[in-house]
Amino acid sequence: MRHLLDTRTLDRETALRILDVAEDMSDTQSREVKKLPTLRGKTVVNLFFEDSTRTRISFEAAAKRLSADVINFAAKGSSVSKGESLKDTAQTLQAMGADAVVIRHPASGAPQTLATSGWISAGVVNAGDGTHEHPTQALLDAFTIRKRRFGADSRGRDLAGIRVVIVGDVLHSRVARSNVWLLATLGAEVTLVAPPTLVPQNVSLWPARVVYDLDQALAEGPDAVMMLRIQLERMNAAYFPTEREYSRRWGLDALRVAGLPDGSIVMHPGPMNRGLEISSEAADSPRSTVLEQVTNGVSIRMAVLYLLLAGERDDERGGDQ
Ligand code: CP
Repeated sequence: MRHLLDTRTLDRETALRILDVAEDMSDTQSREVKKLPTLRGKTVVNLFFEDSTRTRISFEAAAKRLSADVINFAAKGSSVSKGESLKDTAQTLQAMGADAVVIRHPASGAPQTLATSGWISAGVVNAGDGTHEHPTQALLDAFTIRKRRFGADSRGRDLAGIRVVIVGDVLHSRVARSNVWLLATLGAEVTLVAPPTLVPQNVSLWPARVVYDLDQALAEGPDAVMMLRIQLERMNAAYFPTEREYSRRWGLDALRVAGLPDGSIVMHPGPMNRGLEISSEAADSPRSTVLEQVTNGVSIRMAVLYLLLAGERDDERGGDQ
């Protein structure tokens, strides 16, 4: 694997390989192996132009568990605020020896630009770009669903026939986009639920169906219900009903959770708006995998860094991802 830029173009074989390597990484953690020597001598740069808690810390923990050196760069407080360009910033970090660059950026397509411009030779991992994609989030979500369904028997399995309902601010969500593409590649059936104003115009091109009524979607007994964060910072009045109305019609509360079938899980990528898209009772219920997703995120990011920096590279096989 040369880069990880999206899940739309991630093939099934590579997706399963990442999930299976993440299983191996997860096994080492459960055996309390704190560090593997695999990436000793490699340098991973976390290049974050947007805020993050889970993704940045998780990539840092993953790189350190593989014995890589880590450089954390946050645009706030850097020369970016003096107008330094993405190209100059990236080349500065490459000059410090970066082997992989993990980038989060508000502009959709920034990781693709970094990977294809020829500015740097490091492998590039998309840690969330604008409203475009967040591929490692989707991979950790798929890993979580697979682990809950198949347990120790997960390796090599796809998600054929598993029904996932994704609820909320689909319009602004890179998590939704990455999940729709990856889940479809793995054989899952995806239903999107949102107010009509929070559904993207091109949704008919996505491998998912759309319904507007949450209770109708939940009555079908999905295997996983994935709640999305309402991105209030990107919202304007035209898109959004009142918070009270939103919560009543599209929020997941204890009553809706109680109506789910046995074995059905409640997911959220975080950070959560408790009381808006999800109630505390739902977020903290035994069905919730919110913290499991965070734990699994470290295994997935270990797998991605391993395949990028130590595994067979696709440029040696003639592939792009
Ligand atoms: N899920 C997620 O991307 O969280 P952060 O913004 O905290 O990284």
